Amino acid sequence: MNKVIIIGATSGIGRELAKMYAAKNWLVGVTGRRRELLDSLQQDFPDNIITECFDVTSGENIECLKHLTQLLGGLDLLIYNSGYGEPSETLNWEIDKNTTQTNVNGFVEMVNFAFNYFVLERKGHIAATSSIAGIRGNSFAPAYSASKAYMSIYMEGLYIKAARLKLPIYLTDIQPGFVKTKMAKGNGQFWVSSVEKAALEIYTAIKNKKRIVYITKRWWLIAKLMHCLPMFIYKRIG
Ligand SMILES: NC(=O)c1ccc[n+]([C@@H]2O[C@H](COP(=O)([O-])OP(=O)(O)OC[C@H]3O[C@@H](n4cnc5c(N)ncnc54)[C@H](OP(=O)(O)O)[C@@H]3O)[C@@H](O)[C@H]2O)c1
Repeated sequence: MNKVIIIGATSGIGRELAKMYAAKNWLVGVTGRRRELLDSLQQDFPDNIITECFDVTSGENIECLKHLTQLLGGLDLLIYNSGYGEPSETLNWEIDKNTTQTNVNGFVEMVNFAFNYFVLERKGHIAATSSIAGIRGNSFAPAYSASKAYMSIYMEGLYIKAARLKLPIYLTDIQPGFVKTKMAKGNGQFWVSSVEKAALEIYTAIKNKKRIVYITKRWWLIAKLMHCLPMFIYKRIG
């Protein structure tokens, strides 16, 4: 049985991915802070879901990850999906701190552990949900866009490291545009994907060992545009 751990699987994209992997008969370790939502997933797939309830900002990440890996009896795929973001228009330190602790500190601690684990195993796959928002700075949520840029750059670094090690360790950077969850904030949203469609595209990209996947696929176009927009235009919208 293949084994996956999804960090941040209580709701939205992570929950849908957990259901999808469980339905395909993977053994799925799911995490998040909301115990009752983890329990309901477990009740829906009693033979396939194992839960571990913890907060990625609380300092017990590695202990919990090790414990969950032990319960699963190994690990083939880690998906870091936990994320936090709020508009910080007046540059609120609490928002920026929580964003960084969740999207940067939690991410790097767990992905670093998983990469080293996979080096010892000589195989594995890590996926992380960053965002299209990480392509450029954003005045509405500066820490959110910066944290997602950190994730993407770190994943790229690990991709090169795995290639240099000549090991079949795969890295997939998931970059959603808008997906219909409570994380999708702000006016003027467009090309909003359903959670089901997003999860299916992510599942397929991971299966195909893609390095970067835009969700949905047509957000590739926005990604390319964002890279090219000169600052005198970008600063009107960013
Ligand atoms: N929706 C979009 O339009 C969109 C666009 C780009 C990127 N993303 C990214 O996609 C990922 C999934 O978000 P979503 O849209 O599915 O929203 P969501 O339903 O709010 O899911 C967020 C997940 O992160 C977990 N999480 C948040 N803070 C946590 C913490 N301190 N410790 C442990 N887990 C934590 C939540 O679990 P608990 O609350 O139970 O802890 C939940 O399972 C995020 O990384 C987000 O940044 C979303």
